[in-house]
Amino acid sequence: MEFDRCIGPQLSENNGTNTTKSFYLPRQNPLDMISSHNKYDDSCSPSYSFSDIEKEGLYKAIFSRRDVRSHFIADKDLPSDVLFRILNAAHHAPSVGFSQPWNFILIKNKSIRIQVKESFLKEYRKSISLLEENDDNKQRKEKYMSLKLEGIMESALNICVTYDHTRFGPFVLGRTSIAETGVYSVCCAIQNLWLAARAEGIGVGWVSILSNEDLRKILAVPNHIRPIAYLCLGYVNEFSDKPDLENAGWLPRLEVSKVICYDQWGSNDPSGSELRYKPQMNTIL
Ligand SMILES: Cc1cc2nc3c(=O)[nH]c(=O)nc-3n(C[C@H](O)[C@H](O)[C@H](O)COP(=O)(O)O)c2cc1C
Repeated sequence: MEFDRCIGPQLSENNGTNTTKSFYLPRQNPLDMISSHNKYDDSCSPSYSFSDIEKEGLYKAIFSRRDVRSHFIADKDLPSDVLFRILNAAHHAPSVGFSQPWNFILIKNKSIRIQVKESFLKEYRKSISLLEENDDNKQRKEKYMSLKLEGIMESALNICVTYDHTRFGPFVLGRTSIAETGVYSVCCAIQNLWLAARAEGIGVGWVSILSNEDLRKILAVPNHIRPIAYLCLGYVNEFSDKPDLENAGWLPRLEVSKVICYDQWGSNDPSGSELRYKPQMNTIL
């Protein structure tokens, strides 16, 4: 793969001050970033399926991805080439009408993060009072209060992912009936980012206990732009094998068969043969 040497502003470790540094961007199609030896592997079927090793990598990223709020390694920054790969993966998500309506605000500055943390604390207190109103189970409240629900200050980098409904608009192909498809597109980008980060050994935590109004003010987001996700990223010293909320006994994972129906809502498979998992690969599945 060929790289272009670029010179431009880079976020420094020094709390978000911009410095000018050189960095490298891949010149060719991002597909070239995938090792080429498997592309024409004999084990690939002619139907363009991935080789077993490639499939294993993909499923490993999916099943071992976690929402991470703790275990961040202090003072370990994300190298700019790794960050570029993760953001470029996000940028290659599907989007309604190819509108690519996302932006990524990269936040290293500590004083900005302190303000975001204050917004979290305010909204967190509100969430506790909502829990008290709707649920008189004292143990549930105690459990909720024992959960770590953000890693705003401890993570190496925060990213606010936003939605711009005006991009390539007002007519956006495919968004004419369901307006939310723009936001769905941004969520697709976030999932790409999350999986790419996992493949790079970087944890991501999504913090939604925040006020969008506060985010707008703190991050100087214009009125027509909507914050969709506030993410905390960093190298971690562990990825749990199950969601933290499952480990804490907050909620269990539903069986996949319980969320599938056939032809119409709630109906079983008319042929009587349910979808079954057939172990094929030696994966973590
Ligand atoms: C839209 C969205 C918002 C979320 N907000 C929070 C949050 O504010 N705090 C938190 O601790 N986790 C948050 N999460 C993470 C979920 O709790 C987590 O994805 C879920 O428990 C499953 O765990 P896993 O991601 O490790 O598989 C959020 C996830 C999504 C998709």
